[in-house]
Amino acid sequence: MTLLRVQNLMSNELSKRTFLSRPPEPPFEFLINDPSDSVFIGMTKIFDIPFTWTYTTVTNPHIAVVGITGAGKSFFVKTFLTRASYIWNTNAIIIDWAGEYLSWVRQSGGVIVSLAKGDYINIMDLSGMKPIDRAKQIMNSLDILTDISNYPEQRRLTAEAIEQAYLNAGFPLATPASSEKEAPTLKDVTSLLEEKMQEGTYQYPAELENAIYRLRQFTREGEDYFSRKSTIDIGKLSSSGLVAIDLSGLPDESFRAMAALFILQTLKEKMRMEGWSASKGLKALVVLDEAWKVAGDERSDAITIVREGRKYQFGLIVASQNPTDINEAIFSNVGTTVMLRIRFEKFMKYMQGSLNFSDYIRSEIGKFGVGQAAVDMSFNTAVQFPNVFILDRIVGEVPLDTYTIAIAEVLNPDELAERSIVKEYSFEKIDLNSKLVESGLGSEVIGKIFAKMDEKNRLIDVREMVKSMVDMNIGRDSIVSLLRSIGLSDILITRIFTYVR
Ligand SMILES: Nc1ncnc2c1ncn2[C@@H]1O[C@H](COP(=O)(O)OP(=O)(O)O)[C@@H](O)[C@H]1O
Ligand SMILES: [Mg+2]
Repeated sequence: MTLLRVQNLMSNELSKRTFLSRPPEPPFEFLINDPSDSVFIGMTKIFDIPFTWTYTTVTNPHIAVVGITGAGKSFFVKTFLTRASYIWNTNAIIIDWAGEYLSWVRQSGGVIVSLAKGDYINIMDLSGMKPIDRAKQIMNSLDILTDISNYPEQRRLTAEAIEQAYLNAGFPLATPASSEKEAPTLKDVTSLLEEKMQEGTYQYPAELENAIYRLRQFTREGEDYFSRKSTIDIGKLSSSGLVAIDLSGLPDESFRAMAALFILQTLKEKMRMEGWSASKGLKALVVLDEAWKVAGDERSDAITIVREGRKYQFGLIVASQNPTDINEAIFSNVGTTVMLRIRFEKFMKYMQGSLNFSDYIRSEIGKFGVGQAAVDMSFNTAVQFPNVFILDRIVGEVPLDTYTIAIAEVLNPDELAERSIVKEYSFEKIDLNSKLVESGLGSEVIGKIFAKMDEKNRLIDVREMVKSMVDMNIGRDSIVSLLRSIGLSDILITRIFTYVR
């Protein structure tokens, strides 16, 4: 009897303590770090604690970011890269699927490499690697992107020809390459297979023919994006500040994935040679945004990199609007997952299954506005507390491309004193552009309007803007429609026209 009562008491006591030691957010000492050695992200929702991120307290520096279109994934990535660069001098390489980071990178003084629009990479380049290792990587990419793994004979022929091409170009297979010599290209590989075909002695000509056909998709004139001499040294990217590699000019997903895999492989190899050392900090962040084939396939280097944790001294950021495009191994291995708004039940289930958060968090994620986020952290600690917490919003640090239209000069003193009347309207370039399009203006005229505003350092008096539009022979209807869409009243619009006349 006595024993039982003690047990009851203890289990009561225990449950109370469990509750007390399981507050809704991780203890503040895990969220607040030395500001000179961490990156500020936002305030936590419940205890209003400034959450700062550092790679030192998590199991690895890799990050997954999910959320519907417009939820703020790219915004988070830009903010994060900017601050990491201030704090640790971290380099950034954005593998830019759709070219959506380009204007930001340009504004931030970064470098843009546009594949297929002047820049090329030879996927047989060695950047100091052993040819045998590069040959394996190329075969790995072909495994992911083509059906070659279903045809062992064709696979063998292709692998052999790649190695032979290296040997013919004077690269011993097991020796790290010196940079002076020029690497062969896939065209050399195809030629070798074609010669074999011509000899006519090979037992399975159909296999040979198919192997050639498959490689030709990467070597055909006009589509030989990866089989020309490289215009850039991918090995140097990890120390070049901010770089975006624009893949939007490539013709399709396979080409983009081919480039992305090659870049990941090269960076991984480079970083493996340098090795992780805490004192060297976070040398680079590599961003893969919407790269579904690359983030989803078990055999992809994106997964190897995340699985191998801290080995490479760089952090991989994988972002997608469709969480099921990201392999579960990524969620279960990354040190940090940032969840912005998720809508579809299927995606929510997948995330909850992967990260095991509460139904409370789940319902919050479904209601998020732009920039609000739940964060899952795998801290380096045995202490138990909930891993997922909510941020009010991600506090941004992005140089916005804003254009301002000032109306103060057309307001009378009463209106000027009225706090509820807006004195200037600011728009992101993209938003102002769509207003101009909706007002029925053509692209040439829109270009001129932006040029006029750029001339004025992007701050223009509304009278001057309207005057220049009238000078461009833009109809009054279009101008009125634009001013209305900006938010001006008809009274004000009429008054503006009296100034212009
Ligand atoms: N935390 C935030 N604070 C302020 N504005 C934001 C925030 N997150 C996103 N935005 C704005 O919302 C829009 C969509 O964000 P974006 O990052 O492009 O979304 P996604 O990449 O998820 O499609 C952009 O105009 C962006 O500037
Ligand atoms: Mg985006």
